[in-house]
Amino acid sequence: MIKMVNEKLLYEGKAKSVYQGENDEEVIIKFRDDMTAGDGARHESMGQKGYLNSILCAKIFEIIEEAGVKTQFIELTEPCVMKAMKLEMIPIEVIVRNIATGSIVRKFPFEDKTPLNPPLVQMDFKADEYHDPMLNDAIAKALGIATQEELDKLRELALKVNEIMKKMFKDIGIILVDFKIEFGKDKEGNIYLGDEISPDSCRLWDAETMDMLDKELFRQGKDDEVIEAYQEVYNRLLSDEEKAKFN
Ligand code: TYD
Repeated sequence: MIKMVNEKLLYEGKAKSVYQGENDEEVIIKFRDDMTAGDGARHESMGQKGYLNSILCAKIFEIIEEAGVKTQFIELTEPCVMKAMKLEMIPIEVIVRNIATGSIVRKFPFEDKTPLNPPLVQMDFKADEYHDPMLNDAIAKALGIATQEELDKLRELALKVNEIMKKMFKDIGIILVDFKIEFGKDKEGNIYLGDEISPDSCRLWDAETMDMLDKELFRQGKDDEVIEAYQEVYNRLLSDEEKAKFN
């Protein structure tokens, strides 16, 4: 067991806490069971969520890394506890959409469930006090959040991550509708995929039944279906050997 009590808390998010790692180049990310929606208006503890999301995130980051995109992930030392590279996070939520649903349908005249071809990349400013407004390149540059070169790189990486994940989920009978990712920089300014990818940050539909297998269930108040859905993604994505590792 890693002794979290002695660890220095660097940052506490809505579902994860970030602690100082063994050295200045590393952090420990602890996945919690907390689930929030509506800008924090709803907050529940969902048993097993931290466990499932940490294992799913580790697996997804491994697959993405193997496909050639650098990620922050180093090792899942135990369920819920991820060792990762320390990065300076870029305050942009990069959202990739393969099918229009959710906020884009509320804000623009897209018909719900319209396929988006090519996929649409959207960037939101990650700032709770401003309710994460949508960015464009001019605003991001004027705010000093990122350079044009970095913005272009984020879009390129986001589309690559989309291709990798679309295939990964298709192979297990799941449609990747949309997702949100975040990036950070090391001391040399190299860009890495950071934060997490899990059913908390993606919309996933069962390819046969079109059932939701993600956090949207919680947003819609179907709290009792959430863990079962996350468990289903876990069951399909992890091999028996991988499941046995932390059992
Ligand atoms: P979006 O439709 O913009 O937001 P909402 O969930 O409010 O309708 O979400 C697009 C995808 O990005 C969806 O899979 C959820 C994910 N996402 C996050 O994980 N965190 C966020 O803060 C936002 C805005 C989206």
